[in-house]
Amino acid sequence: MNKVKVMTVFGTRPEGIKMAPIVKAMEKVPEIENTICITAQHREMLDQVLELFQIEPDYDLNIFKSGQTLTEITMRALEGLENVIKEVEPDILLIQGDTSTVFAGALAAFYQKVKIGHVEAGLRSGNLYSPYPEEANRKLTGILADFHFAPTETNRKNLLREGYPEEKIFITGNTVIDALHYTVRDDYKFNIPFLDDIDYRNKRIILLTSHRRENIGEPMENIFSAVDHISKKYDDIEVIFPIHLNPKVRNIANKTFKGNQKIHIIEPLDYEPFTNLMARSHLIITDSGGVQEEAPSLGKPVLVVREETERPEGIEAGTARLVGTRYDAIFNFTDLLLSNEKEYIKMAKAANPYGDGKASNRIVDIILGTMG
Ligand code: UD1
Ligand code: UDP
Repeated sequence: MNKVKVMTVFGTRPEGIKMAPIVKAMEKVPEIENTICITAQHREMLDQVLELFQIEPDYDLNIFKSGQTLTEITMRALEGLENVIKEVEPDILLIQGDTSTVFAGALAAFYQKVKIGHVEAGLRSGNLYSPYPEEANRKLTGILADFHFAPTETNRKNLLREGYPEEKIFITGNTVIDALHYTVRDDYKFNIPFLDDIDYRNKRIILLTSHRRENIGEPMENIFSAVDHISKKYDDIEVIFPIHLNPKVRNIANKTFKGNQKIHIIEPLDYEPFTNLMARSHLIITDSGGVQEEAPSLGKPVLVVREETERPEGIEAGTARLVGTRYDAIFNFTDLLLSNEKEYIKMAKAANPYGDGKASNRIVDIILGTMG
């Protein structure tokens, strides 16, 4: 029997996290031969994911350069992937999400007339510039894809509205929930002295992450100054900010949080400690896509500091709130949640709108069923 030749392509931290459970699921299937190619659009931030999930790529394009532009990422990935696709000759190329790696992967496969499976398909904010450039990347990828693995019914409906054929869309859940099941444990010990020493019973931890390109500048200054002022208002609040490696984000953070001892800016955490820190936090303030999906499953209120979200499910479930990027809105809503227990409890409930932790197996079954 001929094996199905899959080529899995990813490049950044969130793609690695969400692709890892699929890679692991494929390892157990003898009918699939999977070749892994990373673009390494991210370097350190991706390498920690590979190590955690014990994934050894067959090809590493190593395209990362500090300060890389969108054009540079896309060109280097496209060129590198062309060569690998020609060598591997896959039956199907799998990509995940909405980064520049994903779009370049789809385009490279299309040029070689290789079938494309798009994991996390159908997310839409409705604004091409927010998130930027991700909304465009996922729409462009959708046009080229043969199989759309949509995490939720909302995502499926978005694709149907755009005219994609029903039989090419599969609701699978989001693989980020599969990954989360792999890492979060009640008895987890960080082995990072600062995180092990926090008095989680008497302190309320706000976990902050922010990195989106469209927030860099005034929106990010607003977010950080609202958090800065909130931390000063409440004695029992400590803010932990595992900061993205982007120097533009670091400059804004260093300027805004200068001298504030209650804001703990730390290096990006590996996925395992990060998710366990989420589980021990009181609330989360973020512009991240993945974090918005993980938090509801952990019963943590999330304030989404963006103007639009392509992930309305958490908001509908009541665990997330789109607060925007204006200072007043962020300060006032955080203040309300910290001072009003009823409001807090309303949001702090576990919900699983993004999946049941079995998305990877579904995707692998669909690949086998359609390509095998
Ligand atoms: C990228 C994705 C975004 C995703 C995010 C996840 C695009 C256009 N953007 O944005 O969709 O949400 O990853 O984090 O694909 N850096 C390092 N080391 C690393 C990674 C990044 O130093 O391992 C620094 C570099 O200075 C780099 C900058 O961060 O220039 C930005 O990285 P880049 O991949 O261009 O964009 P992200 O903002 O990370
Ligand atoms: N994450 C991590 N370490 C951190 C911050 C985030 O491992 O210090 C994980 C997080 O759990 C989520 C993913 O990285 O799964 C989200 O990545 P990011 O916010 O960079 O990208 P996005 O999801 O917005 O594309």
